[in-house]
Amino acid sequence: MRVVCLISGSGTNLQALIDAKARGELGVADLVAVISNVAGAGGLDYALDANIPTEILSHRDFADRLEFDRALMQRIDHYQPQLVVLAGFMRILSNEFVAAYRHRLINIHPSLLPKYKGLDTHQRAIDSGDTVAGASVHWVTEALDSGAIIRQTEVPIVPGDTAETLKARVLDAEHVLYPAVVRDISLGVVTP
Ligand code: GRF
Repeated sequence: MRVVCLISGSGTNLQALIDAKARGELGVADLVAVISNVAGAGGLDYALDANIPTEILSHRDFADRLEFDRALMQRIDHYQPQLVVLAGFMRILSNEFVAAYRHRLINIHPSLLPKYKGLDTHQRAIDSGDTVAGASVHWVTEALDSGAIIRQTEVPIVPGDTAETLKARVLDAEHVLYPAVVRDISLGVVTP
């Protein structure tokens, strides 16, 4: 199963996928390309170290969202992926983009959806007095962070947690969750 990964930032989830692949724990998934909309995104270095082809496509070089998304679709389709994995890709996607990858586009979100869609999930969970936080992997649909949930993982919120300490704990859980979901999709254990 050919997988293209889209990133914008630090890329720790990408690294987790790369590590899982190296350990033979990614089923029949192959990371065939990493595309970033941000030059200098940390995840690009992880991809280079793993000999995965990388591309940078800056949204700033395009007049509007649709123009960027269409260019991105061209770059993605070049690799003929069966799965497109959003790993910290900080862009709202156009309906046209989402429709083009229906049933082969997944995202990881740092909350127990449907709670806390959008940004600042950890602070919002703390401010609400929650005792449990977590992460969700879901199929991507037109509405932000609203597609069918594939799997979730929970972590405790402990007294004294800040958004930073909670984020780190959730990220550790993400790094287990995301490779497991990609593996299970590749093996047909999870289907749309
Ligand atoms: C993660 O918290 C993920 O849930 C969210 O963006 C963050 C990406 O982190 N969608 P990284 O770039 O994988 O380190």
